[in-house]
Amino acid sequence: MNGDGLLTGSLLLRDVRMVLDDGSLYAGDLLCQGGLIQAMDRALNSPTDRVIDGGGRVLLPGVIDPQVHFREPGKEYKEDLQTGSWACARGGVTSFLEMPNTSPPTTTVERLEDKLARAASKCVVNYGFFAGATADNIEALQQSAGLSCGVKIFMGASTGDLLVDDPVALERIFKEVPRLIAVHAEDEARIRERTRLFAGRTDPHVHSQLRDNECARLATAQALELSRRYRRRLHILHLSAAEELALLRADKPAWVTAEVIPQHLFLSTAAYDTIGMRAKQNPPLRSEADRQAMWAGLRSGLIDFVATDHAPHLLSEKDRDYAEAPAGMPGVETSLPLMLTALARDEVNFAQIVRWMSRGAAKAYGIPNKGSLRPGFDADLVLVDLESYEPVRAERMASKCGWSPFEGWSLTGWPVLTVVGGRVAFEAGEVQTDTRGSALSFQPPEF
Ligand code: DOR
Repeated sequence: MNGDGLLTGSLLLRDVRMVLDDGSLYAGDLLCQGGLIQAMDRALNSPTDRVIDGGGRVLLPGVIDPQVHFREPGKEYKEDLQTGSWACARGGVTSFLEMPNTSPPTTTVERLEDKLARAASKCVVNYGFFAGATADNIEALQQSAGLSCGVKIFMGASTGDLLVDDPVALERIFKEVPRLIAVHAEDEARIRERTRLFAGRTDPHVHSQLRDNECARLATAQALELSRRYRRRLHILHLSAAEELALLRADKPAWVTAEVIPQHLFLSTAAYDTIGMRAKQNPPLRSEADRQAMWAGLRSGLIDFVATDHAPHLLSEKDRDYAEAPAGMPGVETSLPLMLTALARDEVNFAQIVRWMSRGAAKAYGIPNKGSLRPGFDADLVLVDLESYEPVRAERMASKCGWSPFEGWSLTGWPVLTVVGGRVAFEAGEVQTDTRGSALSFQPPEF
């Protein structure tokens, strides 16, 4: 449906190479009608409202980014739901799941409803939201089922003031909230102890030493233990340490999933020497060995998919002293080109790309009808240019924060067309700002 409640028109994408779930490329035409993929065939000639010539380019299912921070309400000067969604459209991201560490945090049913209403009025891509856990909002979390994709727990403090570090409160949530629980797994007690230990240090490297691998291992072990005890669906956000992977390798219950972010796949602590405090991120950048371990974890299936943790902060905030610089980096505009550049280097294949960037998150969060190019599925699509390389340019970013940790990197696979529910959201370098996405629905899988 479009904004007027009318069915969207038909759109024919001619001469595209469609990436199927098994990674094979199917050359032909794809017809979108009524928001869905109506047909995929070698040649389609049905009359349509619009025809776009794909010029033989590669067509992928739109990226589902299951972890972004868009700052609305409260910190709209760095990003809002509109600019965040524009950045998504540029990056080929057709659906996002947004985190609750806004101001105020998304910890009540009313605040979830407010975010959904704001998104409906201004997002050019599809949207879903997490409910934020506190030590005493169990009832709101229980009531948030139809309104959110799951519950987010900050086990260690990061941007914003959400934190559940009391073991009793943590256990109560796992016991009493029958929802998907996604955890930011860093151990708060150890972070505090080491903050004292490293007091006075100002170089960016201190961040990875302070919030070390053991911080992540301890919290991930605790979350896994609670998830096993209550057979609770658990998602581990932004896995970063080889030790966390070892825990999953030893025992990964069927109801546990994990993700990794491009920062931990493409950057290591060496980035502090080139981009300084801009590389500050929670969980922090790790060693080269950890970075390699993340790729191995993804390839082996222990890590299910990729998210960006898109965390926009202004450069005027990032380029401060260690204690004041906020943690986080933007990512929705670069995740797909980064992965497709790895593909161009033969490091990954198309089957992995569609699983890690689209289908994996759709499956984990129970988002029906998305994540694959198949007739009957939602027409969320991205057409990419794998012929040329372009550097990451800050001035091209739609994100309000206006920078990228990957600035200057020469990447291929830049989106040339993004389609959301059969409607064009990005084309010829421009976001189509009148397009509107839809609220995602969630049908959690049984396990
Ligand atoms: O580095 C981070 N920044 N990690 C998070 O978990 C939060 C994020 C933010 O919102 O800035």
